[in-house]
Amino acid sequence: MRSVERDLAGRTALVTGAGSGIGRACARRLAEAGAHVIVADLRGDAAEKVAAEVGGIAVAVDLAEPGFLEGIRDQVPGTPAGEDVRLSVDIIVNNAGFQHVAPIEEFPPEVFAKILRVMVEAPFKLVRAAMPYMKEGGWGRVVNISSVHGMRASPYKAAYVTAKHALEGLSKVIALEGGAYGVTSTCVCPAYVRTPLVENQIVAQAETHGIEPDEVVERIMLQPAAIKRLIEPDEVAEMVAYLCAPQGSFITGVSIPIDGGWSAR
Ligand SMILES: NC(=O)c1ccc[n+]([C@@H]2O[C@H](COP(=O)([O-])OP(=O)(O)OC[C@H]3O[C@@H](n4cnc5c(N)ncnc54)[C@H](O)[C@@H]3O)[C@@H](O)[C@H]2O)c1
Repeated sequence: MRSVERDLAGRTALVTGAGSGIGRACARRLAEAGAHVIVADLRGDAAEKVAAEVGGIAVAVDLAEPGFLEGIRDQVPGTPAGEDVRLSVDIIVNNAGFQHVAPIEEFPPEVFAKILRVMVEAPFKLVRAAMPYMKEGGWGRVVNISSVHGMRASPYKAAYVTAKHALEGLSKVIALEGGAYGVTSTCVCPAYVRTPLVENQIVAQAETHGIEPDEVVERIMLQPAAIKRLIEPDEVAEMVAYLCAPQGSFITGVSIPIDGGWSAR
């Protein structure tokens, strides 16, 4: 059995979108390192399942809703009351997200706005709420699950690429403001990760192109990558755990690609 340092014992970690894919892997890995994990997800049933697995708390929350912070506060014991919501968490993994693919001229403005709300505004509001607690404790970790699309663009993904680039900017500002208080902020930038989201795309694209699923991965999805395989969610979670661990304490304000050479071009 692999041995894992329990260096996050006593820390509380809030992971958004933790009911599935990368978020679930992060929740598991941070719990393995000793953190008490708040599993936040739109899908309450999925959040419950993961929370039970990691001995954490499930929070059903829609990050697109204006009052979502109150919803989190009300379900997390020990967070202070008050109108300007504050959260007592040491680690935030901003992970929740979704994709919409369409040419700009057909891209629904309301979907564009929602992607920015969930993937930029919600991370800002969460960090804003937790920053006083992190600063006071002299320790904090913000890990933003960005993407190769935080560094590069692809056609038909206007909102997603815009949101990830914005998240990169936010992460750097948090790093600058948090540095003197032991608070770090980083982006992790994966290429295609083997999650339900991507696996469904593989099936759909194989049918559309009339080719085998393996060919979709190699010829279409991973065309720009040097290593032609999908990344596993656990590989992303391992990086997140490293950034939260004592070894990660000097890594801040940067973005770490896990992309099999995609961005080397
Ligand atoms: N899968 C990939 O290839 C890939 C690559 C790079 C970056 N990412 C990023 O990783 C993150 C996680 O993606 P994933 O592949 O694990 O996807 P996923 O669909 O498996 O999981 C995303 C989770 O976010 C939740 N969510 C979506 N909207 C929400 C909302 N409004 N409020 C609360 N929760 C919400 C979903 O319910 C879901 O459980 C996303 O930010 C995504 O952009 C994914």
